[in-house]
Amino acid sequence: MSNHSPEGMPAILVPVQELESREARLDPFPWFSTMRKASPVRYDATRHSWDVFCYDEVLAVLKDHDTFSSVRPKLGPRLLGSVIGEDPPKHQQLRNIVSRAFTPKTVADLEPRIKAIITDLIDQAIEEHGHFDFVAKIAVPLPVIVIAELLGVPIDDRPLFKHWSDVIAKGATENSMSGLATLMSEKTQAKEELDSYFLHILNERRVDPKEDLISHLVQAEVNGEHLRDEDLLEFCILLLAAGNETTTNLLTNTVRRYCEDPSLQVYLREHLEAIDVATEESLRFYSPIQATNRYATKDVQLGGHIIHEGDQVVVWIGSANRDEQQFVAADTFVMDRHPNKHIAFGHGIHFCLGAPLARLEAHVALPAILERMYAMHFEMDGTLQPIPSSLVYGTSQMEIAYRLP
Ligand code: HEM
Repeated sequence: MSNHSPEGMPAILVPVQELESREARLDPFPWFSTMRKASPVRYDATRHSWDVFCYDEVLAVLKDHDTFSSVRPKLGPRLLGSVIGEDPPKHQQLRNIVSRAFTPKTVADLEPRIKAIITDLIDQAIEEHGHFDFVAKIAVPLPVIVIAELLGVPIDDRPLFKHWSDVIAKGATENSMSGLATLMSEKTQAKEELDSYFLHILNERRVDPKEDLISHLVQAEVNGEHLRDEDLLEFCILLLAAGNETTTNLLTNTVRRYCEDPSLQVYLREHLEAIDVATEESLRFYSPIQATNRYATKDVQLGGHIIHEGDQVVVWIGSANRDEQQFVAADTFVMDRHPNKHIAFGHGIHFCLGAPLARLEAHVALPAILERMYAMHFEMDGTLQPIPSSLVYGTSQMEIAYRLP
């Protein structure tokens, strides 16, 4: 077994040694705290990457997109292209188009549909025996159905979507060259399958446009020209990959917190207007995306180190959001925390385009969950399974028990 990651492999996909155990994946925060004090900026030779742990430095990297680029300079398959992997000016062009199609109104209009979907999902989940897997029954299907409807693709293809978005978001669990190679080939295959799937739908919408996001994107123009298929495909895939698992984990992590602290459920059920603020605290406390990465475009000093041109830099959002210098009682869940300048959705020009949608889904789903299920708790303590990734934070399964009102 080798400890070396292949040159050119995005560092973000390579497991961090310190976060490989189940315990560390469920609770990486003590390690983050140690790193913020001991080595707020460090070079990890195993992953060929810098790691940045403190709020101020993470923010400095995300703000300075000239020095810290989102474009991968080295060879290898591009997994998440589109807006998220571009720099200005291309980034701005793509983002403008997408934000035109993905307006606050488009999102707000989804509210009644989200209500109907969550009601159905809860009905199906509580038909059973007083307990169910919250991830499988609610947190996974809700965002997948919403994105499928937004994009305008058939709901029957949901299992395919789930599979593709899982593979694309997956990190390596095995710290070896062969494990990483297998992962990369799985990802490449999923990308090929997705490309041909969406290409078919794009062609259909060109001929017969509907009122959906794909039809808007197909018709959109930059400088009088339509977007190339390549850009359209990357954007559809980005929405799947960036929008599904993240929202799933926001819901799961928040309900996990409700189960860990039952008084929160009682309070929020009586004060539904306080739920959104508590959800922001959940985003800070259990950030669904723990890290993102950049590449230095020139030699630059950060935290007393020189980062060289071309070096990979992983910024730890999950650690920045627990930084005591920025948040009073950072390791405590303060449901009415104010101010709360968490960076769970990133910062700067790449700030999450889907944040209003993720917030709306939580805003609609969480009150419905609290009102229909009382005294939620883990069905079997100690069985939470963390997602095997140091980038994505959540549990792949969460059996919860409850009683009816
Ligand atoms: C970007 C987190 C939901 C679409 C980002 C970034 C973060 C993030 C941290 C910045 C990445 C970087 O700077 O490298 C989250 C979280 C979510 C969520 C925590 C849920 C709780 C969504 C949803 C969608 C979405 C629902 C779409 C339907 C995007 C896109 C970008 C992005 C398109 C790239 C924006 C750009 O590069 O200009 N997200 N996201 N996200 N997110 Fe989200």
